Amino acid sequence: MGLLTSVANNLKANLAFRQGKVKCEGIDVNLTANCTYDCLFCECQQLPSGTDLAKEELFNLADQMAEEGIPCVFFGGGEPLMRPDFLELLRYFSSKGIRISTITNGSLPNKLTPEALTVIDQCVDTLLVSFDSAVPEQYNELRNHKKAFELGIATLDRLSSLENCKKVITAVICRSNYQEFPGLVDLAKRYRFDNVVFQPVSDGPNYPELSVKVGKTDLMLRPEDFQGLKESFEQTEAAAKKCNIRTNIPRLFPWVFRYFDNHANDRIFYHGLVNVFQCIVAFNRICIRHNGDVQLCALVPGRGNIRQSSLRELIGARYPVKEQIREGNLTEQCRKCFCGMDANLSFSVTYRPFSNLRQLLILAKSRLLS
Ligand SMILES: C[S@@+](CC[C@H](N)C(=O)[O-])C[C@H]1O[C@@H](n2cnc3c(N)ncnc32)[C@H](O)[C@@H]1O
Ligand code: SF4
Ligand code: SF4
Repeated sequence: MGLLTSVANNLKANLAFRQGKVKCEGIDVNLTANCTYDCLFCECQQLPSGTDLAKEELFNLADQMAEEGIPCVFFGGGEPLMRPDFLELLRYFSSKGIRISTITNGSLPNKLTPEALTVIDQCVDTLLVSFDSAVPEQYNELRNHKKAFELGIATLDRLSSLENCKKVITAVICRSNYQEFPGLVDLAKRYRFDNVVFQPVSDGPNYPELSVKVGKTDLMLRPEDFQGLKESFEQTEAAAKKCNIRTNIPRLFPWVFRYFDNHANDRIFYHGLVNVFQCIVAFNRICIRHNGDVQLCALVPGRGNIRQSSLRELIGARYPVKEQIREGNLTEQCRKCFCGMDANLSFSVTYRPFSNLRQLLILAKSRLLS
C-alpha cells in the first residue's frame, strides 16, 4: 500500500474511531486446536482437542460475514491443513465473496494434491508458509521436529506451481535463526514465492488462558544480537531487491529493536515508541478461537462465543476491557503485543499527529521504502 493510500485509510479510520463507528474489516479464525508440531515458541499442544467449530458452524459464520459486509478472513490455528474439510471451507467462504488468507506450518505436503492446489489457487488470496530458517538443523530445532525442514521444502515445492494466490514465507525472529535470514530469500526465489515476512518471537503465551511455555524467553534477542540482526536484515533486503521479492523489513525497522529491548521491562512497549498510542486492531478485527470464543485480538480475551451469539452482537458488544482499550488504557497482555503492530502504529500517529510528529516522519519514511 502506498503512503498516500495508507494516510487516507488511517484518516478515515480515525474519523470512524472518534465517532465510535469502526467497521470490522476482517476476522481471524483459528480453525483448529490440533497441530502436527510442538514448536518451542507455542503452547498449542496444551489446548484441549475435540472442541473445534464444526463445518456447518463455520459456514454459518461465512453467511454472517457476507451479511455484515466483512470482507476478509484469516484462517490460522493450530494447523489449518489438518482439518479434513479445509478445502470445503475455502470454497464456501470464497463463494460468499470473502477474501481468504491462510497459513500452514508446511508439515503436510501430501495434503497438497492437484485438487487441493487448484482449490487453493482459486480461493485463497494470500497463503503464508511458516519457514523460519534455510538451515535444516535450526528449523528442525525451532519446530521441534526432526523432519520439519524436509517436509517444509516439499510443501514449498508443491506450492510453487500456484499462479494466482500470493505466496509468502513467514519466519519468526529468534536468537537462533536471525543470522540466516538471507537464505530465506533464496528459498523464496527457488520456489517462486512473492514475499518474505518476519515477525519477532513473543515470550507471552500464544493463548491467554495458558501458561507460557518454559524456555520461550531464551528465544528473545538480547542487545548484543542487535547489530547482527541489523546486518542480517540489510543483507536480506539487498538479496530480496535483486530478485524482486518483497519483505516487511523496512516496516520492522522503526520498532523491532525496541521491542526486543523492552521485553524484560514492565513498561508497555508501545509507550516507548509513540508519545500517544491508540490500538485500532481491537476494533477493526476480531479473533474467533477454534471453539468459537471471541478474543479482542490474538492476545487479549474478549467476551462471547459465536456458538451462542450472532456475529453482529459480538462485534457490537461493549464491555470493560474493550472500553478500557478504547480509552487508551492497555492491558497486561498488551505488554507482549506484536501482532497488528504496523496497523496500530500508523493509526496512532495519524490519530495524534502533533503529539507523535517525530514518529510520524519515521513511519512515513519506512512506508516510502517498503
Ligand atoms: C500460531 S501459528 C498457526 C499456523 C501454523 N500452525 C503455523 O505454525 O504456521 C501462526 C504463526 O504464528 C507464529 N508464532 C507462533 N508462536 C509465536 C510466538 N510466540 N511469537 C511469534 N510468532 C509466533 C508461527 O510461526 C506462525 O507463523
Ligand atoms: S506455531 Fe503453528 S506449528 Fe508450531 S505448535 Fe503452534 S500452531 Fe503448531
Ligand atoms: S495486545 Fe495489541 S492488538 Fe491486542 S488489545 Fe493490546 S495493543 Fe491492541
